[in-house]
Amino acid sequence: MQRKHKNIWALRDVSLHISAGEIFALLGPNGAGKTTLVRILTTLLRPDSGHARVAGWDVVTNPARVRAATGLAGQYSTVDGMLTGFENLYLIAKLRGMDRRTARRTASELLERFRLTDAGGRVTNTYSGGMRRRLDLAGSLVGSPPLVILDEPTTGLDPKSRLDAWDAVSELAAGGTTILLTTQYLEEADRLADRITVIDHGKVVAAGTSDELKAAAGSRLIIMVAEDHQMPTAIRAAVSASGNSPVVDHRDRRVEMVVTDGRSALTRALSVLEDEGVEALEVGLRRATLDDVFLGLTTARPRPAVTR
Ligand SMILES: Nc1ncnc2c1ncn2[C@@H]1O[C@H](COP(=O)(O)OP(=O)(O)OP(=O)(O)O)[C@@H](O)[C@H]1O
Ligand SMILES: [Mg+2]
Repeated sequence: MQRKHKNIWALRDVSLHISAGEIFALLGPNGAGKTTLVRILTTLLRPDSGHARVAGWDVVTNPARVRAATGLAGQYSTVDGMLTGFENLYLIAKLRGMDRRTARRTASELLERFRLTDAGGRVTNTYSGGMRRRLDLAGSLVGSPPLVILDEPTTGLDPKSRLDAWDAVSELAAGGTTILLTTQYLEEADRLADRITVIDHGKVVAAGTSDELKAAAGSRLIIMVAEDHQMPTAIRAAVSASGNSPVVDHRDRRVEMVVTDGRSALTRALSVLEDEGVEALEVGLRRATLDDVFLGLTTARPRPAVTR
């Protein structure tokens, strides 16, 4: 599907499939198009072209069905500051069609689950940012929708609250809920997601499991030496190992580069070091991290202008 805002493509030819029961992460830097996609899938915005179906329902022709099947915690808090935490959840429960008793029970249970029971009677204007975020998460779970969409669920949370949110997401998924989450945190996608799609400038730039993305990014050959005068040899060894250009850190006397065939690159590097009589402090291979993947894929490029 596609969507433009003014004269830029917020989404361009984006196509993805999320399977029931999986945790799917949409990873991308600021302005990548994550929220635009979330807004289309939650019927808040229409695609300019293309289609999206949620739980079998088209987002444009059957928005009410889509909304009934989806829980959303948007990027920016939507809690009402004049209401208490309890009232916010109760209101959502009532809007979702629950009777008063069920709505009350649901609100209490969710407050408990997100460690907000003590604050539940206070107006949310008095909440910290993290507390409001937790209340948003709680609100998305009212009525146990089969699909929960979380737009940057942990931005602004402290480490403890982030772990709690991760636990909540894992627990939900274990219970069979499908989860689409957007994030700028690689660690979050790595840890939670069954599959990851990386978007940048409105386009899908990579997709796969965390392991697949890392494997595709190649491994890293690292050589560290003890003395400055050994650096030229370390660089020669790295270059002869793969032919790519290495990242050279003179302060730490460290050379690192991307290699596709790690094992043979390592052998070649060791033989250059040996031939030139340099004993390195450290020579090794490491697998690409998701950071490497992300930085390799999402470089600063001018955003394509809308041409039609
Ligand atoms: N209502 C709007 N009017 C004009 N441009 C918009 C609008 N909403 C989004 N955009 C632009 O569309 C692009 C994608 O924005 P979007 O909010 O989807 O990105 P995002 O991936 O959610 O970013 P972030 O991580 O900062 O939340 C950006 O260039 C943004 O400036
Ligand atoms: Mg966003």
